[in-house]
Amino acid sequence: MKENIIPHSYQVSKKDREEKNKHKSFLIWFTGLSGSGKSTIANVVEQELYKLGVKTYSLDGDNIRKGINKDLSFAPEDRTENIRRIAEIANLMVDAGLVVLAAFVSPYRKDRENIKAIVKDVNFLEVFINTSLEECERRDVKGLYKKSRAGEIKNMTGISSPYEAPQNPDIEIKTEECTVEEAVNTILNYIKPKLK
Ligand code: ADX
Repeated sequence: MKENIIPHSYQVSKKDREEKNKHKSFLIWFTGLSGSGKSTIANVVEQELYKLGVKTYSLDGDNIRKGINKDLSFAPEDRTENIRRIAEIANLMVDAGLVVLAAFVSPYRKDRENIKAIVKDVNFLEVFINTSLEECERRDVKGLYKKSRAGEIKNMTGISSPYEAPQNPDIEIKTEECTVEEAVNTILNYIKPKLK
């Protein structure tokens, strides 16, 4: 079947869209434990980019796991498929000229490598939101750690399922050592030159 799919060549390119938007498009990928602060920080980064006139879109568990990926669980193979689909969606959005912010636990190194392969290295920035399990568990914003300790949730990242921390992220944010504002500034300072 696949060999009969021949891509049509469209006349409006990513480059055209970037020129029109007056900025480059790429994917900013936030990885970290549940409750580490990924969505909080991504959300403020997006607000700041919006103020600068950058065309953005945010992907997170709310709009993905409740929609296109609602058939997927937290078993390892489903997480892999979760990340693969998100990467493909992000790839289309990057092609559409957007700066995409994606906040997912994405615990497996090989899955994050695969994102890079899908969107291509040059379009990918990895932001490691490094918050210790102890702190995430202390915050327990969604009450999931408590449930997991009580045996009510299977495959909880950090408890009964692994988290493979990035070895060489573009940006590492230690949320126990800085404010949200400082984290956002670190990220903005890194990405601003890449918009040009
Ligand atoms: S991922 O591992 O496949 O990347 P994803 O980011 O989509 O995970 O979803 C994680 C969110 O789902 C967490 O922030 C948490 O709110 C919720 N969640 C529910 N069950 C689990 C679980 N077993 N492990 C991790 N997160 C879970």
